Amino acid sequence: MELSSIYQPVQEDLEKIEDKLRSVSRVDSPQLSEMLEYSLKGDGKRIRPVLTLLSGKFCNYDLDSLLPMATATELLHTATLIHDDAIDNSPVRRSRPTVYKVWGEEKAILLGDYLFAEAGALTATTRNLRVIKLFANTLKAISSGELNQAFNAFNPEQSHQQYFQRVSKKTGALFCMATESGSVLSQAPEESIQILIEYAHNLGIAFQIVDDILDFIGTEEELGKPVGSDLTQGTLTLPAILLLEHYPRDNPVRRLFAKRDGQDDIKRAIELVRNSSIVQECYQIASDYCAKACQKLKLLPDNSSRQSLIALADFVISRKK
Ligand code: IPE
Ligand code: IPE
Ligand code: MG
Ligand code: MG
Repeated sequence: MELSSIYQPVQEDLEKIEDKLRSVSRVDSPQLSEMLEYSLKGDGKRIRPVLTLLSGKFCNYDLDSLLPMATATELLHTATLIHDDAIDNSPVRRSRPTVYKVWGEEKAILLGDYLFAEAGALTATTRNLRVIKLFANTLKAISSGELNQAFNAFNPEQSHQQYFQRVSKKTGALFCMATESGSVLSQAPEESIQILIEYAHNLGIAFQIVDDILDFIGTEEELGKPVGSDLTQGTLTLPAILLLEHYPRDNPVRRLFAKRDGQDDIKRAIELVRNSSIVQECYQIASDYCAKACQKLKLLPDNSSRQSLIALADFVISRKK
């Protein structure tokens, strides 16, 4: 299913989020305004703010608090991407030069900080202490996941467990913040909140696994960002872990990580992953996480938002961008 159909139950309010994102760019400094406009332009998928809105649909949907919260969720996401691209030296995102490429590393880091603060301030307008703490803890989780990745760059000895723990922090945590905040702000019963957190945790892991697969089998044209960049950065993702296990001897990932450089080994690793069962194995693991994500949704009130959450899990597996 297309994202536009999945987003249907909250389409009108998603447009209000776009307005709110535009209003974030209206600041006194013309240079900052230009950077904000560039980063918040409506060409991301907006999955996380949609999760917040959809999660608000199971009790007392309160747009006054959901709108700033959903906007904060997207701002936090944007800030992490701006920093991530500067850290990864990544030149392209959403088919446009990255902030760090256009304005340089220093200004990219500062813009990310500005957006973290903006997101925090918007979260605080909900006046909900649980949600405010959640915001802070989510930012801690993302940072520690990214730090774990940085500390393990070019380390070929990493377990599946380490990978899943990292992914659950760097990507799952923000998905969880999206659904927890949406359900808390709509005064959903605690059992519903927990179901939505578990959904997001598993969906977020599946989302990152697919992202890591697409880094091997996608095209820059479709993804709007470079492919093969995880290996270049020395990031050991699930396909690379499986490649090390499938080919214990004479392995291009092992060679690449030992030398910390080598276009030929990257090409060889991508080729091997594409021509093996590894892609299927990774998709199977991602599908299992999606199935787990949806398992308890049937305990929530049956409405169009519940259908959308289920459809979103299918989208995560089939997505090409
Ligand atoms: C990219 O997220 C970062 C990951 C967690 C893999 P998205 O794929 O949701 O990025 P946009 O917002 O749609 O560009
Ligand atoms: C997700 O990981 C980044 C964050 C959680 C900040 P990736 O490094 O895989 O994201 P992309 O591929 O650059 O979008
Ligand atoms: Mg990256
Ligand atoms: Mg990636």
